[in-house]
Amino acid sequence: MNDNYSDLQYRDELDLINRFIHKLKCLYHQMTPLTKLLELLRSEFPQMFNLNNDLILNQNLQQLIYANVVKDRDRPTKQYCSKFIKLLIEILERYDKEINEELLDLLMSDYVGGGASEHNDDDDDDNDKKEYIYKSYYIDNQKWVTLKNEAIYNLVGMTTWGAAYLLSDFILANKQLFNEKTILELGAGTGLIGLVLDQVNSKSVLLTDYSPVVLDNLKYNIENNGIKIQDLINVEYGDEQLQQNLENGDDTKFKVMTFDWEANLDDKQCEAFQSDIILGADIVYDPSLCKYLVAVLHRLCMKNPSTVAYIASTIRNQQTFSTFQQELQSHNFNITEINYTPDNFVHPSPYIYDYTQIVLYKITLK
Ligand SMILES: C[S@@+](CC[C@H](N)C(=O)[O-])C[C@H]1O[C@@H](n2cnc3c(N)ncnc32)[C@H](O)[C@@H]1O
Repeated sequence: MNDNYSDLQYRDELDLINRFIHKLKCLYHQMTPLTKLLELLRSEFPQMFNLNNDLILNQNLQQLIYANVVKDRDRPTKQYCSKFIKLLIEILERYDKEINEELLDLLMSDYVGGGASEHNDDDDDDNDKKEYIYKSYYIDNQKWVTLKNEAIYNLVGMTTWGAAYLLSDFILANKQLFNEKTILELGAGTGLIGLVLDQVNSKSVLLTDYSPVVLDNLKYNIENNGIKIQDLINVEYGDEQLQQNLENGDDTKFKVMTFDWEANLDDKQCEAFQSDIILGADIVYDPSLCKYLVAVLHRLCMKNPSTVAYIASTIRNQQTFSTFQQELQSHNFNITEINYTPDNFVHPSPYIYDYTQIVLYKITLK
Protein backbone atom coordinates (compact mmCIF):
# COMPACT_ATOMS: atom_id res chain seq x y z
CA MET A 1 0.00 0.00 0.00
CA ASN A 2 1.16 3.52 -0.78
CA ASP A 3 2.90 5.19 2.21
CA ASN A 4 0.67 8.21 1.86
CA TYR A 5 -2.33 6.06 2.02
CA SER A 6 -3.34 6.17 5.68
CA ASP A 7 -5.25 3.60 7.68
CA LEU A 8 -8.04 6.09 8.01
CA GLN A 9 -8.39 6.51 4.25
CA TYR A 10 -8.37 2.77 3.89
CA ARG A 11 -11.15 2.35 6.45
CA ASP A 12 -13.20 5.14 4.86
CA GLU A 13 -12.87 3.46 1.51
CA LEU A 14 -13.87 0.10 2.91
CA ASP A 15 -16.89 1.66 4.56
CA LEU A 16 -17.85 3.36 1.30
CA ILE A 17 -17.57 0.09 -0.61
CA ASN A 18 -19.63 -1.79 1.97
CA ARG A 19 -22.37 0.82 1.86
CA PHE A 20 -22.32 0.81 -1.93
CA ILE A 21 -22.62 -2.98 -2.14
CA HIS A 22 -25.41 -3.02 0.43
CA LYS A 23 -27.41 -0.37 -1.42
CA LEU A 24 -26.84 -2.09 -4.74
CA LYS A 25 -28.00 -5.38 -3.23
CA CYS A 26 -31.19 -3.74 -1.88
CA LEU A 27 -32.00 -2.14 -5.23
CA TYR A 28 -31.10 -5.23 -7.25
CA HIS A 29 -33.16 -7.59 -5.12
CA GLN A 30 -36.22 -5.44 -5.51
CA MET A 31 -35.75 -5.39 -9.27
CA THR A 32 -35.35 -1.66 -9.43
CA PRO A 33 -35.47 -0.65 -13.11
CA LEU A 34 -31.83 -0.49 -14.15
CA THR A 35 -31.74 3.12 -15.30
CA LYS A 36 -33.25 4.11 -11.95
CA LEU A 37 -30.82 1.87 -10.09
CA LEU A 38 -27.88 3.57 -11.78
CA GLU A 39 -29.31 7.02 -11.17
CA LEU A 40 -29.80 6.31 -7.44
CA LEU A 41 -26.31 4.87 -7.06
CA ARG A 42 -24.71 7.76 -8.90
CA SER A 43 -26.43 10.32 -6.74
CA GLU A 44 -25.69 8.58 -3.43
CA PHE A 45 -22.16 7.47 -4.29
CA PRO A 46 -20.70 9.99 -6.75
CA GLN A 47 -17.17 9.04 -5.63
CA MET A 48 -17.68 5.54 -6.98
CA PHE A 49 -18.29 6.90 -10.45
CA ASN A 50 -15.45 9.37 -10.51
CA LEU A 51 -13.18 8.50 -13.41
CA ASN A 52 -10.10 9.71 -11.55
CA ASN A 53 -10.88 7.30 -8.84
CA ASP A 54 -9.79 3.74 -9.24
CA LEU A 55 -12.95 2.54 -7.52
CA ILE A 56 -15.13 2.59 -10.57
CA LEU A 57 -15.81 -1.08 -11.08
CA ASN A 58 -12.26 -2.22 -10.51
CA GLN A 59 -11.67 -5.97 -10.27
CA ASN A 60 -12.18 -6.07 -6.51
CA LEU A 61 -15.46 -4.29 -6.75
CA GLN A 62 -16.65 -6.52 -9.58
CA GLN A 63 -15.76 -9.55 -7.51
CA LEU A 64 -17.76 -8.16 -4.59
CA ILE A 65 -20.72 -7.51 -6.89
CA TYR A 66 -20.48 -11.04 -8.18
CA ALA A 67 -20.19 -12.64 -4.75
CA ASN A 68 -22.61 -10.46 -2.81
CA VAL A 69 -25.23 -9.44 -5.30
CA VAL A 70 -25.71 -11.53 -8.43
CA LYS A 71 -24.43 -14.92 -7.31
CA ASP A 72 -27.25 -15.29 -4.79
CA ARG A 73 -29.50 -18.25 -5.50
CA ASP A 74 -32.53 -16.10 -4.88
CA ARG A 75 -31.96 -13.72 -7.74
CA PRO A 76 -35.10 -11.79 -8.77
CA THR A 77 -35.50 -13.29 -12.29
CA LYS A 78 -33.06 -14.64 -14.83
CA GLN A 79 -33.94 -11.86 -17.22
CA TYR A 80 -33.28 -9.13 -14.67
CA CYS A 81 -29.99 -10.72 -13.65
CA SER A 82 -28.84 -10.97 -17.24
CA LYS A 83 -29.83 -7.38 -18.01
CA PHE A 84 -27.95 -6.25 -14.93
CA ILE A 85 -24.74 -8.03 -15.92
CA LYS A 86 -25.03 -6.68 -19.45
CA LEU A 87 -25.32 -3.17 -18.06
CA LEU A 88 -22.19 -3.71 -15.96
CA ILE A 89 -20.32 -4.92 -19.01
CA GLU A 90 -21.48 -1.94 -21.00
CA ILE A 91 -20.15 0.44 -18.35
CA LEU A 92 -16.89 -1.46 -18.07
CA GLU A 93 -16.38 -1.37 -21.82
CA ARG A 94 -17.06 2.34 -21.88
CA TYR A 95 -14.27 2.86 -19.35
CA ASP A 96 -12.08 0.28 -21.05
CA LYS A 97 -11.89 -1.93 -17.96
CA GLU A 98 -11.29 -5.65 -17.66
CA ILE A 99 -14.42 -7.68 -17.09
CA ASN A 100 -14.56 -10.12 -14.23
CA GLU A 101 -14.54 -13.68 -15.55
CA GLU A 102 -17.06 -14.99 -13.06
CA LEU A 103 -19.57 -12.36 -14.11
CA LEU A 104 -19.03 -13.34 -17.74
CA ASP A 105 -19.38 -17.03 -16.93
CA LEU A 106 -22.61 -16.35 -15.05
CA LEU A 107 -24.01 -14.45 -18.01
CA MET A 108 -23.14 -17.31 -20.37
CA SER A 109 -24.41 -20.03 -18.06
CA ASP A 110 -27.81 -21.73 -18.16
CA TYR A 111 -28.25 -20.27 -14.75
CA VAL A 112 -28.97 -16.88 -16.28
CA GLY A 113 -28.95 -17.26 -20.02
CA GLY A 114 -31.27 -20.16 -20.69
CA GLY A 115 -32.71 -23.48 -19.57
CA ALA A 116 -35.41 -24.01 -16.97
CA SER A 117 -35.54 -21.75 -13.98
CA GLU A 118 -33.56 -23.09 -11.05
CA HIS A 119 -36.54 -22.31 -8.90
CA ASN A 120 -39.03 -24.55 -10.64
CA ASP A 121 -38.66 -26.93 -7.81
CA ASP A 122 -42.03 -28.67 -7.92
CA ASP A 123 -43.11 -31.59 -10.06
CA ASP A 124 -46.29 -29.82 -10.94
CA ASP A 125 -46.48 -29.26 -14.72
CA ASP A 126 -48.32 -26.03 -14.30
CA ASN A 127 -45.66 -24.76 -12.00
CA ASP A 128 -42.97 -25.40 -14.63
CA LYS A 129 -44.60 -22.88 -16.90
CA LYS A 130 -44.76 -20.19 -14.29
CA GLU A 131 -41.99 -17.75 -13.67
CA TYR A 132 -41.35 -16.58 -10.17
CA ILE A 133 -39.76 -13.43 -8.91
CA TYR A 134 -37.67 -13.59 -5.79
CA LYS A 135 -37.61 -10.26 -4.06
CA SER A 136 -35.50 -9.72 -0.99
CA TYR A 137 -35.84 -7.09 1.66
CA TYR A 138 -33.49 -5.92 4.32
CA ILE A 139 -35.67 -5.67 7.43
CA ASP A 140 -35.15 -4.18 10.84
CA ASN A 141 -31.65 -3.10 9.78
CA GLN A 142 -30.41 -6.60 10.42
CA LYS A 143 -31.94 -9.36 8.36
CA TRP A 144 -32.50 -10.27 4.71
CA VAL A 145 -35.77 -11.99 3.89
CA THR A 146 -36.80 -13.34 0.49
CA LEU A 147 -40.30 -13.67 -0.89
CA LYS A 148 -41.36 -15.76 -3.84
CA ASN A 149 -43.96 -13.96 -5.94
CA GLU A 150 -45.51 -14.98 -9.23
CA ALA A 151 -44.05 -12.89 -12.07
CA ILE A 152 -47.44 -12.69 -13.74
CA TYR A 153 -49.92 -13.31 -11.01
CA ASN A 154 -53.37 -14.72 -11.56
CA LEU A 155 -54.24 -14.37 -7.90
CA VAL A 156 -53.80 -11.13 -5.98
CA GLY A 157 -52.25 -13.06 -3.10
CA MET A 158 -49.28 -14.11 -5.24
CA THR A 159 -47.61 -10.72 -5.16
CA THR A 160 -46.63 -8.39 -2.31
CA TRP A 161 -48.52 -5.11 -2.13
CA GLY A 162 -47.56 -1.63 -1.00
CA ALA A 163 -49.83 -1.67 2.05
CA ALA A 164 -47.89 -4.70 3.33
CA TYR A 165 -44.67 -2.63 3.27
CA LEU A 166 -46.30 0.16 5.21
CA LEU A 167 -47.85 -2.13 7.82
CA SER A 168 -44.58 -4.09 8.16
CA ASP A 169 -42.65 -0.90 8.70
CA PHE A 170 -45.21 0.22 11.30
CA ILE A 171 -44.87 -3.10 13.15
CA LEU A 172 -41.09 -2.83 13.29
CA ALA A 173 -41.27 0.77 14.46
CA ASN A 174 -43.77 -0.17 17.20
CA LYS A 175 -42.61 -3.60 18.37
CA GLN A 176 -43.80 -2.98 21.92
CA LEU A 177 -47.46 -3.04 20.77
CA PHE A 178 -47.04 -6.70 19.83
CA ASN A 179 -45.18 -7.87 22.90
CA GLU A 180 -46.64 -11.13 24.25
CA LYS A 181 -49.73 -10.72 22.05
CA THR A 182 -51.59 -13.32 20.03
CA ILE A 183 -51.71 -12.09 16.44
CA LEU A 184 -53.94 -13.02 13.52
CA GLU A 185 -53.29 -11.91 9.96
CA LEU A 186 -56.15 -11.91 7.45
CA GLY A 187 -55.40 -12.26 3.72
CA ALA A 188 -51.68 -12.82 4.39
CA GLY A 189 -50.73 -13.27 0.69
CA THR A 190 -47.00 -13.78 0.20
CA GLY A 191 -46.21 -13.42 3.90
CA LEU A 192 -44.09 -10.29 4.37
CA ILE A 193 -45.93 -9.41 7.57
CA GLY A 194 -45.34 -12.90 8.95
CA LEU A 195 -41.61 -12.54 8.34
CA VAL A 196 -41.59 -9.16 10.02
CA LEU A 197 -43.49 -10.56 13.01
CA ASP A 198 -40.58 -12.93 13.59
CA GLN A 199 -38.65 -9.84 14.73
CA VAL A 200 -41.25 -9.12 17.40
CA ASN A 201 -41.69 -10.75 20.79
CA SER A 202 -45.27 -11.89 20.22
CA LYS A 203 -46.93 -14.88 21.87
CA SER A 204 -48.25 -16.48 18.69
CA VAL A 205 -48.81 -15.65 15.04
CA LEU A 206 -51.63 -17.13 12.96
CA LEU A 207 -51.31 -16.37 9.24
CA THR A 208 -54.42 -16.98 7.16
CA ASP A 209 -55.67 -16.74 3.60
CA TYR A 210 -58.32 -18.57 1.61
CA SER A 211 -56.75 -19.68 -1.66
CA PRO A 212 -54.88 -23.02 -1.52
CA VAL A 213 -52.29 -21.76 -4.03
CA VAL A 214 -51.66 -18.62 -2.00
CA LEU A 215 -51.48 -20.64 1.23
CA ASP A 216 -48.90 -23.00 -0.26
CA ASN A 217 -46.76 -20.08 -1.37
CA LEU A 218 -47.21 -18.40 2.02
CA LYS A 219 -45.98 -21.53 3.76
CA TYR A 220 -43.03 -21.80 1.36
CA ASN A 221 -42.02 -18.19 1.99
CA ILE A 222 -42.17 -18.47 5.75
CA GLU A 223 -40.25 -21.74 5.89
CA ASN A 224 -37.76 -20.66 3.22
CA ASN A 225 -36.74 -17.87 5.57
CA GLY A 226 -35.97 -20.30 8.35
CA ILE A 227 -39.17 -19.94 10.38
CA LYS A 228 -40.83 -23.11 11.61
CA ILE A 229 -44.59 -23.27 11.15
CA GLN A 230 -47.41 -25.52 12.18
CA ASP A 231 -49.44 -26.31 9.06
CA LEU A 232 -53.16 -26.30 9.88
CA ILE A 233 -54.33 -25.60 6.34
CA ASN A 234 -56.39 -28.75 5.96
CA VAL A 235 -57.84 -28.83 9.45
CA GLU A 236 -61.62 -28.42 9.61
CA TYR A 237 -62.91 -25.26 11.26
CA GLY A 238 -64.20 -25.97 14.75
CA ASP A 239 -62.31 -29.25 14.99
CA GLU A 240 -61.91 -30.21 18.70
CA GLN A 241 -58.37 -31.38 18.07
CA LEU A 242 -57.54 -28.03 16.48
CA GLN A 243 -58.76 -26.11 19.50
CA GLN A 244 -56.70 -28.30 21.81
CA ASN A 245 -53.72 -27.89 19.54
CA LEU A 246 -54.03 -24.14 19.52
CA GLU A 247 -54.46 -23.90 23.26
CA ASN A 248 -51.81 -26.22 24.59
CA GLY A 249 -50.51 -28.59 21.94
CA ASP A 250 -47.79 -27.64 19.54
CA ASP A 251 -45.72 -24.75 20.83
CA THR A 252 -44.66 -23.66 17.34
CA LYS A 253 -45.23 -19.92 17.40
CA PHE A 254 -46.19 -19.57 13.72
CA LYS A 255 -49.26 -21.29 12.33
CA VAL A 256 -50.79 -21.16 8.89
CA MET A 257 -54.52 -21.77 8.45
CA THR A 258 -57.26 -21.42 5.90
CA PHE A 259 -59.68 -18.61 6.74
CA ASP A 260 -62.27 -17.60 4.18
CA TRP A 261 -64.17 -14.50 5.32
CA GLU A 262 -67.13 -15.57 3.18
CA ALA A 263 -67.41 -18.93 4.92
CA ASN A 264 -69.69 -17.33 7.53
CA LEU A 265 -68.26 -19.27 10.45
CA ASP A 266 -70.26 -19.69 13.63
CA ASP A 267 -68.99 -18.65 17.04
CA LYS A 268 -67.50 -22.03 17.79
CA GLN A 269 -65.65 -22.23 14.49
CA CYS A 270 -64.33 -18.72 15.00
CA GLU A 271 -62.69 -19.58 18.30
CA ALA A 272 -59.48 -20.65 16.56
CA PHE A 273 -59.05 -17.14 15.18
CA GLN A 274 -59.54 -15.15 18.37
CA SER A 275 -56.54 -12.96 19.06
CA ASP A 276 -55.33 -9.79 20.75
CA ILE A 277 -54.33 -8.16 17.48
CA ILE A 278 -55.71 -8.56 13.97
CA LEU A 279 -53.63 -7.40 11.01
CA GLY A 280 -54.59 -6.92 7.38
CA ALA A 281 -52.75 -5.35 4.44
CA ASP A 282 -54.54 -4.47 1.24
CA ILE A 283 -57.55 -6.57 2.05
CA VAL A 284 -60.05 -3.79 1.27
CA TYR A 285 -60.05 -3.90 -2.52
CA ASP A 286 -63.31 -5.51 -3.54
CA PRO A 287 -66.58 -3.84 -2.47
CA SER A 288 -68.42 -7.16 -2.43
CA LEU A 289 -65.99 -8.50 0.20
CA CYS A 290 -66.33 -5.56 2.62
CA LYS A 291 -69.40 -6.87 4.39
CA TYR A 292 -67.83 -10.30 4.98
CA LEU A 293 -64.57 -8.82 6.14
CA VAL A 294 -66.25 -6.46 8.61
CA ALA A 295 -68.55 -9.27 9.83
CA VAL A 296 -65.43 -11.35 10.57
CA LEU A 297 -63.80 -8.44 12.43
CA HIS A 298 -67.01 -7.89 14.37
CA ARG A 299 -67.43 -11.53 15.34
CA LEU A 300 -63.83 -11.78 16.54
CA CYS A 301 -63.95 -8.49 18.44
CA MET A 302 -67.26 -9.36 20.10
CA LYS A 303 -65.63 -12.52 21.45
CA ASN A 304 -62.67 -10.56 22.74
CA PRO A 305 -63.62 -6.85 23.03
CA SER A 306 -60.06 -5.72 23.73
CA THR A 307 -58.95 -6.89 20.27
CA VAL A 308 -57.25 -4.20 18.21
CA ALA A 309 -57.13 -4.41 14.41
CA TYR A 310 -54.57 -2.59 12.26
CA ILE A 311 -55.66 -2.50 8.64
CA ALA A 312 -53.50 -0.86 5.96
CA SER A 313 -55.20 -0.10 2.65
CA THR A 314 -54.22 1.43 -0.63
CA ILE A 315 -57.08 3.65 -1.69
CA ARG A 316 -57.50 2.89 -5.37
CA ASN A 317 -61.21 3.44 -5.42
CA GLN A 318 -62.80 5.83 -2.93
CA GLN A 319 -66.18 4.14 -3.31
CA THR A 320 -64.80 0.77 -2.18
CA PHE A 321 -63.13 2.35 0.79
CA SER A 322 -66.31 4.22 1.75
CA THR A 323 -68.21 0.92 1.68
CA PHE A 324 -65.67 -0.47 4.14
CA GLN A 325 -65.96 2.60 6.39
CA GLN A 326 -69.76 2.43 6.35
CA GLU A 327 -69.73 -1.26 7.25
CA LEU A 328 -67.38 -0.51 10.16
CA GLN A 329 -69.59 2.31 11.40
CA SER A 330 -72.73 0.23 11.20
CA HIS A 331 -70.99 -2.45 13.30
CA ASN A 332 -70.17 0.07 16.00
CA PHE A 333 -66.44 0.21 15.47
CA ASN A 334 -64.13 3.04 16.48
CA ILE A 335 -61.88 3.98 13.58
CA THR A 336 -58.68 5.96 14.12
CA GLU A 337 -56.41 6.85 11.27
CA ILE A 338 -52.73 6.51 12.19
CA ASN A 339 -50.52 8.93 10.31
CA TYR A 340 -47.48 6.82 9.77
CA THR A 341 -44.63 7.56 7.40
CA PRO A 342 -42.39 4.53 6.82
CA ASP A 343 -39.05 4.80 8.54
CA ASN A 344 -37.05 2.39 6.38
CA PHE A 345 -37.40 -0.62 8.68
CA VAL A 346 -38.33 -2.50 5.54
CA HIS A 347 -36.04 -1.60 2.71
CA PRO A 348 -38.06 -1.58 -0.51
CA SER A 349 -37.14 0.61 -3.43
CA PRO A 350 -38.32 3.93 -2.08
CA TYR A 351 -39.80 5.26 -5.29
CA ILE A 352 -41.93 2.28 -6.26
CA TYR A 353 -44.51 2.66 -3.56
CA ASP A 354 -46.42 5.86 -3.25
CA TYR A 355 -47.19 5.78 0.44
CA THR A 356 -49.42 8.80 0.20
CA GLN A 357 -52.22 6.62 -1.13
CA ILE A 358 -52.02 4.14 1.73
CA VAL A 359 -53.97 4.63 4.94
CA LEU A 360 -53.50 2.80 8.19
CA TYR A 361 -56.51 2.32 10.45
CA LYS A 362 -56.67 1.26 14.05
CA ILE A 363 -60.04 -0.38 14.60
CA THR A 364 -61.61 -1.29 17.96
CA LEU A 365 -65.12 -1.91 19.20
CA LYS A 366 -66.86 1.12 20.73
C1 LIG B 1 -54.40 -7.62 -2.41
S1 LIG B 1 -53.98 -9.13 -1.66
C2 LIG B 1 -53.00 -8.61 -0.27
C3 LIG B 1 -52.03 -9.67 0.15
C4 LIG B 1 -51.06 -9.25 1.25
N1 LIG B 1 -51.75 -8.94 2.48
C5 LIG B 1 -50.23 -8.06 0.80
O1 LIG B 1 -50.58 -6.93 1.19
O2 LIG B 1 -49.23 -8.23 0.08
C6 LIG B 1 -55.51 -9.62 -0.86
C7 LIG B 1 -55.43 -10.91 -0.09
O3 LIG B 1 -56.71 -11.23 0.46
C8 LIG B 1 -56.98 -12.59 0.24
N2 LIG B 1 -58.45 -12.79 0.18
C9 LIG B 1 -59.30 -12.38 -0.78
N3 LIG B 1 -60.56 -12.78 -0.53
C10 LIG B 1 -60.50 -13.47 0.63
C11 LIG B 1 -61.48 -14.16 1.42
N4 LIG B 1 -62.75 -14.24 1.04
N5 LIG B 1 -61.09 -14.76 2.55
C12 LIG B 1 -59.78 -14.70 2.92
N6 LIG B 1 -58.81 -14.09 2.23
C13 LIG B 1 -59.16 -13.48 1.09
C14 LIG B 1 -56.30 -12.90 -1.09
O4 LIG B 1 -56.04 -14.28 -1.29
C15 LIG B 1 -55.03 -12.09 -0.96
O5 LIG B 1 -54.00 -12.79 -0.34
